[in-house]
Amino acid sequence: MKSYQTLLTELDDKGIFTITINREDKLNALNKTVISELNDAVDEIYQNSAIKGAIITGKGIKSFVAGADISEFKGMTEAEGKALAQRGHDVFDKIELCPKPIIAAVNGFALGGGCELAMACHLRIASENAKFGQPEVKLGIIPGYGGTQRLTQLIGKGKALELLMTGDTIDAACAAKLGLVNDVVQTVELLDACKAMLQKITSMAPFAIAQVIQSVYAHFKDGINGFDTEIELFGKCVATEDFAEGTAAFLEKRKPVFKGK
Ligand code: COA
Repeated sequence: MKSYQTLLTELDDKGIFTITINREDKLNALNKTVISELNDAVDEIYQNSAIKGAIITGKGIKSFVAGADISEFKGMTEAEGKALAQRGHDVFDKIELCPKPIIAAVNGFALGGGCELAMACHLRIASENAKFGQPEVKLGIIPGYGGTQRLTQLIGKGKALELLMTGDTIDAACAAKLGLVNDVVQTVELLDACKAMLQKITSMAPFAIAQVIQSVYAHFKDGINGFDTEIELFGKCVATEDFAEGTAAFLEKRKPVFKGK
């Protein structure tokens, strides 16, 4: 297991890998080191077969991630700005396209890059004190880590434009109403709720879960017909040992034992 300067990582005996952004004194703001280490930690999810699913959260009870690290913005040129955004996009795309389920445990402020990080995860569970927003316009910029796109995908154009243009912050209950989060739980229950959700998902056939992720994201990719993708991936699932096991288990009235093959 790798060790990191700005992240804490832990793999439990159920195969759940928890990545905690560990800059509590800066409300877990995403500096270049965090982005780079997040990239490496997500690579671990892809590469380590003992990892079945992952949680991304922030250290402490006040903040998930309060955005990109504003102290790194000073004196940035246009080319550097583009490079910063590209790097963030690369890492967040890797999270979004990961074949294993990743849940954001949103334990407080999810602002700017924090909201974008949560939206790049497959699901979001928030604590009651969580707050969401894209306040970039207050700084004279726009979201640079996919926020204009993923917020629009999740909550629709009208509300997305409102949040993006006002920079307003919304609470967890409002985020749930808009479909920005999947569930809201008490702060003390947050990690357990994420783990329970992951255990439910990881008890399904892993290959099928990976195809669900790929097929849903086909909807948002230019030049790809998501219906065609679904037909193709359905066929691939039918060819797996897990499909034979799943159907046999149903007919034999027992629990399936999936192998991910
Ligand atoms: N980048 C860098 N540092 C940040 C940060 C960010 N995005 N967000 C918070 N911090 C730092 C603060 O500078 C402060 O550091 P200091 O103690 O060395 O001065 C520390 O985290 C605590 O933040 P503070 O502002 O004192 O806490 P607060 O409870 O008064 O306010 C927020 C909390 C989240 C409302 C406020 O920190 C904030 O507005 N942050 C920026 C949010 C943002 O614009 N994000 C998008 C960036 S593109």
